[in-house]
Amino acid sequence: MCGIYASFSLNAEKRVFEGLKRIEYRGYDSWGVATLVDGKLELKKEVGKLSGQKNIKFAESKLCLGHTRWATHGEVTKINAHPHLAKNKSFALVQNGVVENYQEHKSKLIDDGYNFISKTDTEIIVGLLEKEMEHNSEKNLSTSSFINVFNKLAGRNTVVVITTQGRIMAIRDGSPLVVGRNSKRELYFSSDVLSMSPDVDEYLVINSGQIAVFNSSDSCFEITDIKTGKRVGVEFIPLEHKLDLANITMDIGKDSYESYMFKEIHEQSNMLLNVIRDSKQKFAVAVEMIKNARQVFTLGCGSASYATGNTAYLLRKIGILALTVEAYEANSYLELLNNGSEKSVCIVFSQSGETADTNEVVELMKRKGVKIISVVNMPGSTLTQLSNLSFMLQVGPELAVASTKAFLGQALWGIIISDILSGSKFNDLEIKINEFEYKLKEWFANKKIQNNIKKIAKNLTKHEHVFVLGRGDLYYAGLESALKLKEISYIHAEGFSSGELKHGVIALISKGTPVLCLVAEDENKANMLSAISEVRARGGKTIVIAKENNELYSNWIQLPDTNDYIFLSSIIPSQLMTCYMAVEKGYDVDKPRNLAKSVTVK
Ligand code: M6R
Repeated sequence: MCGIYASFSLNAEKRVFEGLKRIEYRGYDSWGVATLVDGKLELKKEVGKLSGQKNIKFAESKLCLGHTRWATHGEVTKINAHPHLAKNKSFALVQNGVVENYQEHKSKLIDDGYNFISKTDTEIIVGLLEKEMEHNSEKNLSTSSFINVFNKLAGRNTVVVITTQGRIMAIRDGSPLVVGRNSKRELYFSSDVLSMSPDVDEYLVINSGQIAVFNSSDSCFEITDIKTGKRVGVEFIPLEHKLDLANITMDIGKDSYESYMFKEIHEQSNMLLNVIRDSKQKFAVAVEMIKNARQVFTLGCGSASYATGNTAYLLRKIGILALTVEAYEANSYLELLNNGSEKSVCIVFSQSGETADTNEVVELMKRKGVKIISVVNMPGSTLTQLSNLSFMLQVGPELAVASTKAFLGQALWGIIISDILSGSKFNDLEIKINEFEYKLKEWFANKKIQNNIKKIAKNLTKHEHVFVLGRGDLYYAGLESALKLKEISYIHAEGFSSGELKHGVIALISKGTPVLCLVAEDENKANMLSAISEVRARGGKTIVIAKENNELYSNWIQLPDTNDYIFLSSIIPSQLMTCYMAVEKGYDVDKPRNLAKSVTVK
């Protein structure tokens, strides 16, 4: 959460302003930029999104530090926005994370006479640095003072400062930080690699527990391990090379689509093959790891947790003992990891590879000896580094906050692994996925189907609640559909197994209550139809996503003309509906309220 972009370059103010727009998906309640102009630090901060901002005037500067905020401590105000300036104006600071012991530090600083102007935990770091400088009689912030203060902070924090002396100092713990440079010897710091692609040719990842320092006076750039105090080798990786390897398109525009989310939904008919392409050997290794495991865990948060839940479900269906771990409730699983955990495998899904709740459990499992297989979409992410075997999803940058194509890619990965474990041939799977993509393209191009979805979505905007029923192979598809509806159109959507209906939820069904039902042509169909009848008998309105129509359905959304991958195709109508509903209600589809793309704080 929160985005950091800093630059030492010609027109750094423009580069940083544009860079911040590219990382705004990480947080967008307010933003700020500090520029070094004629030896003095100047601040500009605003509340609201940066993308709509025009005519912002900055003085020309070579050194600049920017931040987009996702508020954790202190409401959304200009004062609480980052960067925060030292009282003597010698440095400006941004933070990504949470200072967990900020209350303790704050009261001590107040006792010492420090005057806080914001309500943030970030200002604690500024105060501690100023105190440290005083103590060391420093005019300019030194690296050792920065490290001393950092060591006093509890929690995971990535902090970047620029100083009036023309230095950039950055410490990473948890939340990601990458450095890039170009042939003009300009240097950039950012929260993600892709955002730097217009500015740099090569990059390196600063690891957790490292400090990077750049002196603009002599262009010296060094990285040091904080614990050992030893210098770390500085090795930049060509950006093109890395991205080619990851087979990631650099297309980060919206094309003719009105939103990134709408574009990414449509890309789903184009990128599924990437999940399997180039990964034959890796799938073979993963299959062996799973076959030899005493216990298989699956792990993820939000949408990723539904993809991992479905993966565990599929593995159980073929006789593999697989358990889904809820990352934020991981403590209750700890005892299971005590004996023989080195024979266990955990499959982890994460679009960003930076989700704090997920990575913390991964670190814990690793300490217990569990082998980690991860499926990530962001090159160079922390989760990739933590894994024994890591797959790159290769579905291309997902810039809308709500996950669509990454979720579909993760779910497909789970289906592929269980298919291979049950004896399917890799080449046959490639053919099957290719055919599915073709059917999906046909479906997107079918105006009648698409207009029907739009019409149903428009009607749904009149309601405050919708229930989503799935079962068996479509249970997790129902949960994911409900999450999509909530996130973007803000309708209260509750997903559950249709089996639960008569155990309680049916009390909420009355005349006109919309119930979205996901029906597969399988052994669960009869039970789904019973649930649908029960809803209709109470006046409820059933919107059914299925391959075939039935007189019990109030509205029918036709699925693509294929029996394959119904889990994947049955989610897409909800992705589309939530977009249409959000547009109808005038909401921002790509940047829904209160959410952030990458949840790097706990
Ligand atoms: O980056 P990750 O896949 O680890 O993110 C996990 C969740 O935070 C994410 O899926 C979230 O639920 C999205 N808002 C879903 O649209």
